[in-house]
Amino acid sequence: MKILLFSHVHNQNRLKISMIEFIKNMPKVELHMHVEGSMDAKMLWKLAHKNNYKLKYNSVEELVKAYKFNNLTEFIEMYMLGTRVIQSEQDLYDVCMNYFQTCVEQNIRHTEVHCDIRTYVDYGYPAEFVINALHGAFTDAKKNYGITGGFMPCFIRHLGNDVAQKDLELLLPHKEKILAIGLSAVEVPYPPSLFKDTFKKVHDAGIKVIAHAGEEGPPEYIWSAIKDIQVDRIDHGVRCLEDDKLVDYLVETQIPLTVCPCSNVALKVFDSLSQHTLPIMLKKGLNVCINSDDPAHFGANLNENMIGIAENTTIGKNEIIHMAKNAINGSFADQARKDELLSELSDYKLS
Ligand code: ADE
Ligand code: ZN
Repeated sequence: MKILLFSHVHNQNRLKISMIEFIKNMPKVELHMHVEGSMDAKMLWKLAHKNNYKLKYNSVEELVKAYKFNNLTEFIEMYMLGTRVIQSEQDLYDVCMNYFQTCVEQNIRHTEVHCDIRTYVDYGYPAEFVINALHGAFTDAKKNYGITGGFMPCFIRHLGNDVAQKDLELLLPHKEKILAIGLSAVEVPYPPSLFKDTFKKVHDAGIKVIAHAGEEGPPEYIWSAIKDIQVDRIDHGVRCLEDDKLVDYLVETQIPLTVCPCSNVALKVFDSLSQHTLPIMLKKGLNVCINSDDPAHFGANLNENMIGIAENTTIGKNEIIHMAKNAINGSFADQARKDELLSELSDYKLS
C-alpha cells in the first residue's frame, strides 16, 4: 500500500515537472504587460540612486515590503513611483531591454507592451521620450533576439477625457510606431464611455483600440468598451461572467480577453489562483489568453502565471496550447508573423 501511494505521488510529481518544463520551453506570445510593471524593487532602487531621487524607504528590503497592495488604486500609487525614477530615454530603454532579457529566458517570441506617455509629459519630458525609448528597445529586441511586437500607449483613465484628447494629439504624429492605443489605470468610476469622442478619433486615424475593462469594474464597463469605444481587444474582462448576455456576445464575436491570473490574485479580484475563473471562461468558449500584467509587482512573469494556473486549476496541456494559439491570433502581428508563430508552436507541440 505504502509503495503504491509513494508511486502515485512520484507519478504526480513527474507529471508536474513535465508540465512545468512544457510551459517553460513553449514558444509564447504576451499581449498584456506594462513596461514599468516589469521594474522590480531592486531596479527601482538602483535607478533612484543613479538619478538622486529621494525615496521614502531606507533600504531595498523596505521597498520590497512596500510592493504589497490591497486593490488597484493602491497598486497604481506604487506603480507611479516607478515612473518617478525613470529620468531619461536611456533609463526607459534599459527597463524595456531588461524585460526583453526575461522574454529570452522565458521563450516569449512576440510581445505587445503597454506604456503611458502622460506621466512623463506631466514630468516635463516630451512624448518622444517614451516613443523613442520603446521604439529603440523593440528595434534592438528584434535585431538581437528575434523578438517581435510593439508598444501600446494608454490613456490614464482617472485623468479624464480632456487629458486623453491631448495625449492623442501628441501620439498621432507617431502613429506608424504604435500598435494600438489603450485605456488603463484606476478603472472605477471611469467607464470607457467617458472617452467615446477621443476613441472615435483613434479609430478614424486607423489605430487599433484596447481597454482595461472588467478587472475591478462591473460587466457594464465591458459593454461600454465594446459599444462606446469599439475595442479590438479587452484587457482582463474577467468580470464578464456576471452577465450571460455579455458572455454570449464575447463568445460570438471572439473579442480577445487578455487575462492576468497572478495580477488578479495580487489585486484581490480573486482570493487565490485555485478560485480563478479562467477554466470556466475557457469552457464557455471565450477567447482568453494568459499574461503577466505587471510581472515585477505581482512576482510572476508569463511562465509563472501559466504554471500557477496549471498547478492550481483543472487546466492542462491542451488548454495551455489553446490559449497560446489565442494569444498569437489575438495579437496585432501581421498574418505572416502570426503564421510563423503558429507553426513554431505546432512544431513544438509535436516534438
Ligand atoms: N496599469 C498597470 N497595471 C494595471 C492594471 N492591472 N490595471 C489597470 N491599469 C494598470
Ligand atoms: Zn494591465
